[in-house]
Amino acid sequence: MSSLELNKAFAAVLTAGITFMLAGQLGKVLVHGERPHESAIRIGDVAAPAGAPAAAPAGPEPIAGLLANASVENGQGIVQKQCAACHSLNEGGRNGIGPNLYGVVGAAHGHIEGFNYSAVLKGKPGPWDYASLNEWLYKPSAYAPGTRMGYAGLANTQQRADVIAYLRSISPKAPPLPPAGAAPAAAPAAAAAAPAAAPAAAEVPKIGPLMAAADPEKGGALFRRQCAVCHTANEGGKSGVGPNLYDVVGKPHGHLEGFNYSAVLKGKPGPWNYEELSAWLLAPAQYAPGTRMGFVGLKNPEDRANVIAYLRSLSANPLPLP
Ligand code: HEC
Ligand code: HEC
Repeated sequence: MSSLELNKAFAAVLTAGITFMLAGQLGKVLVHGERPHESAIRIGDVAAPAGAPAAAPAGPEPIAGLLANASVENGQGIVQKQCAACHSLNEGGRNGIGPNLYGVVGAAHGHIEGFNYSAVLKGKPGPWDYASLNEWLYKPSAYAPGTRMGYAGLANTQQRADVIAYLRSISPKAPPLPPAGAAPAAAPAAAAAAPAAAPAAAEVPKIGPLMAAADPEKGGALFRRQCAVCHTANEGGKSGVGPNLYDVVGKPHGHLEGFNYSAVLKGKPGPWNYEELSAWLLAPAQYAPGTRMGFVGLKNPEDRANVIAYLRSLSANPLPLP
């Protein structure tokens, strides 16, 4: 065999391998999708009766009330299993069968320049807000009949909320979360138009009095569950999606040299004292609107005190307790 023929043979084997792998990935997605009886192959059929969108009377349950407590981590797991075969998620990531999804929440429909979207999806007015993502992920072919997204849909409401919370965490321009319990239809617009609807920051009760009794061990356990997906906390640990947090208590905002912080967080005056940390962890997006930290917040003051006590314990010279 000449070397040219060898190359050809090699290329053929490679192509076959890649095709096989892709087919396997897609197969997994289709087989393990939430609604396996509706495979993506039906897109053509679904598109046909497009004249009658009323044919889908039962829309998705609203998720506005679920978002505040949705699990970014769980959402990330679902996306890795069900979406990542077609979508990359990192900033500037390559398009696959579907477009890269970084920054999609709050961006226009068809937000990636140069991706070959279907006209029906690209033509939808307005940005991707929480309500439209909810409808889309519930049943893509009903939201945009004729879409190219060959995915049956995510019927479980909590899972949709988790997935959207995760997408929000990788979307620096995501609108504020709708207040929990808000009227679903009005919520996204109202929340975007009136950030004043969240007076929480002014009402943050002082964390100081709770610090003496706070439990760093409980805080550590909470940290591993809710923060470690993005942060390391050991001395000299690698930054992940978020900066390494060793010795952050008492240090300036944006304490880690070389980490790519948002301007809004880095620009906050003063050090991370107990009250600043508490206000931040209660509602990151309100404390620093536009922050890159995609974390919905810790409502419970004891949880906040515990996790701050844990962060405090990670320091050679901890800041004295208030
Ligand atoms: C089989 C491949 C495939 C799977 C699986 C898939 N998608 Fe998609 N996705 C696409 C394609 C193709 C498009 C473009 C659709 C169009 O143009 O009509 C798209 C578009 C999107 C958009 C709109 C992007 C934009 O720029 O407007 C979002 C959001 C999205 N997908 C989220 C998801 C999520 C979340 C999941 C998993 C729960 C998922 N997709 C699973 C292929 C897929
Ligand atoms: C989805 C990823 C993610 C999760 C989950 C997350 N963070 Fe973050 N965190 C970030 C990012 C990104 C930044 C940088 C934010 C910016 O620059 O606006 C950050 C910044 C911080 C900072 C400021 C660090 C500094 O150097 O100024 C603290 C403190 C912090 N996070 C604590 C926590 C705690 C505690 C939890 C869990 C209760 C948590 N984070 C959960 C991504 C995350």
